[in-house]
Amino acid sequence: MTKRVCIIGAGPSGLAQLRAFQSAKAKGAEIPDIVCYEKQSDWGGLWNYSWRTGTDEYGNPCHASMYRYLWSNGPKEGLEFADYTFEEHFGKPIASYPPRSVLFDYIKGRVEKAGVRQWIRFDTIVRDVRTLPEGGFEVTARNEAEDSETRETFDHVVVASGHFSVPNVPEYPGFDTFNGRILHAHDFRDAREFIDKDILILGTSYSAEDIGSQCWKYGCRSVTVAHRTAPMGYKWPDNWQEVPRLERVEGRTAYFADGTSREVDAIILCTGYRHHFPFLPDDLRLKTANVLASDDLYKGVVWNGNPDIFYLGMQDQWYTFNMFDAQAWYVRDVIMGRIEVPDLASREADVKARKDAEAALEDDYACIDYQGAYTKELIDETDYPSFDIDASNRAFHEWKKHKKKDIMTFRNNGYTSPMTGTKAPPHHTPWKDALDDSLESYLQT
Ligand SMILES: Cc1cc2nc3c(=O)[nH]c(=O)nc-3n(C[C@H](O)[C@H](O)[C@H](O)COP(=O)(O)OP(=O)(O)OC[C@H]3O[C@@H](n4cnc5c(N)ncnc54)[C@H](O)[C@@H]3O)c2cc1C
Ligand SMILES: NC(=O)c1ccc[n+]([C@@H]2O[C@H](COP(=O)([O-])OP(=O)(O)OC[C@H]3O[C@@H](n4cnc5c(N)ncnc54)[C@H](OP(=O)(O)O)[C@@H]3O)[C@@H](O)[C@H]2O)c1
Repeated sequence: MTKRVCIIGAGPSGLAQLRAFQSAKAKGAEIPDIVCYEKQSDWGGLWNYSWRTGTDEYGNPCHASMYRYLWSNGPKEGLEFADYTFEEHFGKPIASYPPRSVLFDYIKGRVEKAGVRQWIRFDTIVRDVRTLPEGGFEVTARNEAEDSETRETFDHVVVASGHFSVPNVPEYPGFDTFNGRILHAHDFRDAREFIDKDILILGTSYSAEDIGSQCWKYGCRSVTVAHRTAPMGYKWPDNWQEVPRLERVEGRTAYFADGTSREVDAIILCTGYRHHFPFLPDDLRLKTANVLASDDLYKGVVWNGNPDIFYLGMQDQWYTFNMFDAQAWYVRDVIMGRIEVPDLASREADVKARKDAEAALEDDYACIDYQGAYTKELIDETDYPSFDIDASNRAFHEWKKHKKKDIMTFRNNGYTSPMTGTKAPPHHTPWKDALDDSLESYLQT
C-alpha cells in the first residue's frame, strides 16, 4: 500500500515539502500519495499578499501579515534556493533586497517548474487532526468554496502552517478609551494611512523596525518606539525617538516609564506572534516560544511525542527558504525510510543539546552561524544540493553591519550569491526614494 502524506499549508515551507517529494520522483523514486491543504485560494503563504484584515472571505482568521511596500528585511543571498537560483528565475543578477512581489514571483517560479500544483487543495482549511488507534491520522478539512467537509486518513502529517499569523496582542491601561487607532502589525497594510500622523510603536524587533521605517518613508510626522526590554539603538532620523516602556494612555497622550509623555494618533503593536495550531489536539500540538531551538522537535522537525508528525519552519528565522528546504528534504527522507529516527530518549537529548547550545549564543552573529550550521547539518543528510553556507553567513553578517551603519540605507547594498558566486548589483534607486515596489520597477536596470 502506498503511504499517504498530508501537508498543512502551501507557504514556502509546505511548497518546499512538495518540491522535495517531486525531486525524489524526478530521480525515479516511488513517492507517497500527497495531499496539501491550503486555506487560501493561492500558494505562497505570507508572500501571497491580501488587503483583508480580521477574517478572510470565508470568515476564518486572515492569514496574511505582510503589507504593501514590504521589501525583504534580510539579503536574498541568505534565503536563495540551492536548486533554483535567482539568476535562473530572473535570467540576470538582481539586487539584494527584493520587494515582496519579486520574492513571491521567485517562490512561485520553482514550484511552477516542478509542476506540483495539482497536489494542493486550495480554499481548504484543516479543522482537526486525530491519531488513529491503529496508527496514522484522520484529518478533517473543509473546502470553504464548496462548503463541504472531508475526513481522510494519512500515515504522516507535515504541519507547515507558519507561525507569524496569529498576533500576540497585549493590553495597556487606557487602551479602551484611546481616541485614535490601535492595531497589531498583523493588520498593518498601507503606510500611506499614517501620512502626517504621529505614531507610537510597541516592540523592538523586525516588525517594529520595518513598519516604523515604512511609515517614515511614506511620510508620517513622527515615530516613537517604546521598548519593554532594550532600545533598538540604530541611528534614527530626526523625527524618530526611542523611549522606555509604555505605562498608560489617556485620551491621545501616551505616558512612558521615564515620566515623559507624547501625543499620538495611532498605536501599532509590533509585539510578535503566537505559535497557534487550533486544529491539533494537545498530544500533537507544538508549544514553543519563537526561538532557534524549538521545544519537542527532534532535529527541529520531528514531533517527539509521535514521530509520524512533523513541523516545518517553526524556529525564529534568520535563514528561511533554504532552511525550510533543508527541513523538507530531511522530513521526506524520514517518511521514505531513508533516514531512521532514534528512540525517544535520544530525540529528547537532541532537543536538549540544541537548546543548551542556543542558550550559550552570545550575540546575533552567533545566532546566524548557529542557524547556518543547523541548516547545513540537515542538508548533509539528504541529497539537497549542498551550498556555501559560510557565504550565506557572511551575507547576513555584512547585512547586520550595514544596518548598524545606517538603518535607512542598508538596503542599498549588494552581496555575493552562495549559489552562483555572483555579486548582486546595486538597486537602481535608493530604498528610501523607491516608492514603487512593483516587480516591473524593481527589475528595471
Ligand atoms: C511581516 C513579515 C515579513 C517577513 N519578511 C520576511 C523577509 O523579508 N524575508 C524572509 O526570508 N522571511 C520573512 N518573513 C518570515 C516568513 O515567516 C517566511 O518568509 C515564510 O513565509 C514562512 O513560510 P511558512 O510556509 O512556514 O509559513 P507561511 O508563509 O505563514 O505559510 C503558511 C501557509 O499555511 C496555510 N495555513 C495555515 N493554517 C492552515 C490550515 N489550518 N489549513 C490549511 N492551510 C493553512 C496559510 O494559509 C499559509 O499559506 C516575514 C514574516 C512576516 C510576518
Ligand atoms: N520587511 C520584512 O522582511 C519584515 C518586516 C516585519 C517582520 N518581518 C519578520 O516577521 C517575523 C516576526 O517579527 P516581529 O517583530 O513581528 O516579532 P518578534 O521578532 O517575535 O518580536 C516581538 C517583539 O514584541 C515585543 N513584545 C512582546 N510582547 C510585548 C509586550 N507585552 N509589550 C511590549 N513589547 C512586547 C518583544 O519585546 P521584548 O524584546 O521585550 O521581548 C519583541 O521586541 C520575523 O521573522 C521578521 O523577520 C520581516
